[in-house]
Amino acid sequence: MVSFIIVFNRVPPSDFNIKNIPGTGNRLDVILRSILAVLNSNYYNHLNPQIIIVFEKHFNKPKTLFIDPSIRLNIENEFSAALFFKKLLKTSFESSELPENMIIEPLSFEDLILSLKTTRTLYYMHKKGDPLSVNPLQTHNPAFILGDCDGLTEIQEKFLKTLNIQKISLGSVEYLTSQCISLLQYYLYKTDFSKT
Ligand SMILES: C[S@@+](CC[C@H](N)C(=O)[O-])C[C@H]1O[C@@H](n2cnc3c(N)ncnc32)[C@H](O)[C@@H]1O
Repeated sequence: MVSFIIVFNRVPPSDFNIKNIPGTGNRLDVILRSILAVLNSNYYNHLNPQIIIVFEKHFNKPKTLFIDPSIRLNIENEFSAALFFKKLLKTSFESSELPENMIIEPLSFEDLILSLKTTRTLYYMHKKGDPLSVNPLQTHNPAFILGDCDGLTEIQEKFLKTLNIQKISLGSVEYLTSQCISLLQYYLYKTDFSKT
């Protein structure tokens, strides 16, 4: 399985204006576009990716949302994605409000990484990482860690370094989180990692 881990270090507001998400949503649009980059991808059926979103500053306690593959969400555009998240945030990710195959756990960024470390090959996406090559992606169960519009914090980066998690780059251009996800999916599909 391939996973995209998006780390959101801002407080996600539930009262954002649906007509002005970038202006009122504390950049929740980064999350919405990233989800759409996965769900609307031409490679979705081939890769069956899992989306993991870490809300590091969800009220007082961090929360992590797991959106498992093959979930039917009826999210087709940024507007429907925003409506969906507004509801989830208003109920503080109340489990009974979550669709099947969507799970919320009280995990912080560090908790999540430690829990995945033994079963997944983790990669931290950063423009100053090692160049993307076929080899690192031909591991099973890769999980790619991506920052939000501000990137990971220094503490989070240091934590990944202590665990020897490899930093991978898509080049010197700084992409949006959702663009990185699209590029990675294209690359994974082209290298057909799932058949290795
Ligand atoms: C808009 S960028 C964040 C920029 C932020 N100012 C920083 O310095 O990290 C969003 C995320 O996309 C990923 N990213 C952006 N450009 C990349 C690149 N060229 N190679 C690999 N990952 C990249 C990183 O995970 C980054 O945290």
